[in-house]
Amino acid sequence: MKPVRKAVFPVAGLGTRFLPATKAIPKEMLTLVDRPLIQYAIEEAREAGIEQFIFVTGRGKGALEDHFDIAYELEATMSARGKSLDVLASTRKKPGSVVSVRQQEPLGLGHAVWCARDIVGDEPFAVLLPDEVMVGKPNCLKQMVEAYAQVGGNLVAALEVPPEETHKYGVVDPGARDGRLTEIRGLVEKPPQGTAPSNLMLPGRYILQPEVMRALDAHEKGAGGEIQLTDAMAKMIGHQPFHAFAFEGERHDCGSAAGFVIANIALSLRRDDVAPAVRDYLASL
Ligand code: G1P
Repeated sequence: MKPVRKAVFPVAGLGTRFLPATKAIPKEMLTLVDRPLIQYAIEEAREAGIEQFIFVTGRGKGALEDHFDIAYELEATMSARGKSLDVLASTRKKPGSVVSVRQQEPLGLGHAVWCARDIVGDEPFAVLLPDEVMVGKPNCLKQMVEAYAQVGGNLVAALEVPPEETHKYGVVDPGARDGRLTEIRGLVEKPPQGTAPSNLMLPGRYILQPEVMRALDAHEKGAGGEIQLTDAMAKMIGHQPFHAFAFEGERHDCGSAAGFVIANIALSLRRDDVAPAVRDYLASL
């Protein structure tokens, strides 16, 4: 079984739900405590063994590439002032390990992933949606890579949400369950209210076989008139093993303002340097 070495980060979205904050900066650069969202996703992938990070980006998203580059003036100035560069260490990536392709038109998540097909090549790959922030030890993708080593094929993180929320997500039609792994019988993107096959949704962490790119070649439109990754994955069921993985940890939906604020509070409470002041403030409310 080939190891999972590459990860795709779809980061071309316009972030309209966060306007005006995202008028001039990418939504993935919004910060949780003192790191941008994208850095949480990149670090999760790196800890899970990913060696190549593929951004599917778009116009106006250059800050994402700059963030993982060497900032020469900044580093020279900090060094001259005797300041440690440790804080920048995880943003300095090995030459060639961060690759960008552009999604020229907003045609959907499936289309975004398909834009990376030539860089992914003939290997299994991960997909991480950076506005879904996962907190766990080991982290979500690492837990998935460990499970993948046992079952191979395709593996998607899945978690339960209240039934009235399933219409917002990709949803699993579950088969037999064995521990944290559930066989997948079907997948449906944004099922209309009351029609979801379960309340097990996809929170944006995937390990996929390269054949899914062939399914995406067809450019078939699905929910919302978009080319959906969920639909392409559904075509793999029955041809390759396909499992949902119940990840152990917390999920934060940073795609909504409330979820983003809650994530900031939750992550700040995990930080020794910030937590006391935040806890005192919360207690005072
Ligand atoms: C995308 C996926 C969906 C998934 C969701 C997680 O939807 O298409 O399957 O459940 O991300 O956030 P979007 O939120 O881009 O509409």
